[in-house]
Amino acid sequence: MRVAYVQGQYVPYHQAQVAMEDRGYQFADGIYEVIVFFGHRLLDEALHLKRLERSLNELGIRMPMSREALSLIIRELMARNPYRHGLIYMQVTRGVAPRNHVFAPHLKPVLTMAVMPLKSPTNAMLEKGVDAISQPDLRWGRCDIKSVGLLANSLAKNAAVRAKAYEALLVDAHGMVTEGSATNAYMVKDGVIYTHPATNEILGGVRRTVLQRLCEETQMPFREVAFSLEEAKHADELFITSASSHVLPITTLDGQPIGTGRPGPLTMRLLELYRDHVTEQTGYSWN
Ligand SMILES: Cc1ncc(COP(=O)(O)O)c(C=O)c1O
Repeated sequence: MRVAYVQGQYVPYHQAQVAMEDRGYQFADGIYEVIVFFGHRLLDEALHLKRLERSLNELGIRMPMSREALSLIIRELMARNPYRHGLIYMQVTRGVAPRNHVFAPHLKPVLTMAVMPLKSPTNAMLEKGVDAISQPDLRWGRCDIKSVGLLANSLAKNAAVRAKAYEALLVDAHGMVTEGSATNAYMVKDGVIYTHPATNEILGGVRRTVLQRLCEETQMPFREVAFSLEEAKHADELFITSASSHVLPITTLDGQPIGTGRPGPLTMRLLELYRDHVTEQTGYSWN
């Protein structure tokens, strides 16, 4: 049976409930994290908990408990759920109060957690790559905060699904690709990997951090320099990363083939390095 964690209690997933006047529900006044685990071992937990704390700090929401206590609850929830591999979804909202734009200073933050099955890209998707479309980036000015306010992301992703594509790459008012609707985006050109700098226009993805480190260790050139939609269309390779998509090649953008139209060598090398990173941390190897 699936079990969720709601404010100090483990409850059957389908009975988990939050209050009508939770500010997360009424104002999207909250943040979340998604941590992947393989064989009950968490991947890059410290980076996720650090980002969770940063998101809360940026919004002036209190940490509901210490990182150590969060870590214990995550482990307990994993043990109580039926998945060997999966995703931990954790959300913290500012709290519950009568609806008012102005928030009281000492609200008690609401922590909820659930475990979700992992829907990883299939081998066919990894071998052939996936399609992406472009969409205008309609989000707010603090995309560096992992806010639950995901409406613009959701609309972009739905546009992708309507176009039978996997992901929407978001394009800002200057024609630059910021990231995907739920992924970071990268371009390879002349042997160099480009991705948008970690400004308030994008979420600093955990895989983005890990890939940057892997590139440094293996002397693959990695530049935090934004690229335009036009440059993306003429790239040698394109790919995206996230907790659930791993490292995923994009082989068409707005219907146009990228490079050879097949996943490129640098993308596949990075996927291999990422798999090694997963194995190193969790003992799990997937092929
Ligand atoms: C907008 C956005 N960018 C990037 C990412 C990738 O971040 P991570 O690698 O931490 O999963 C996500 C993940 O959900 C996201 O929602």
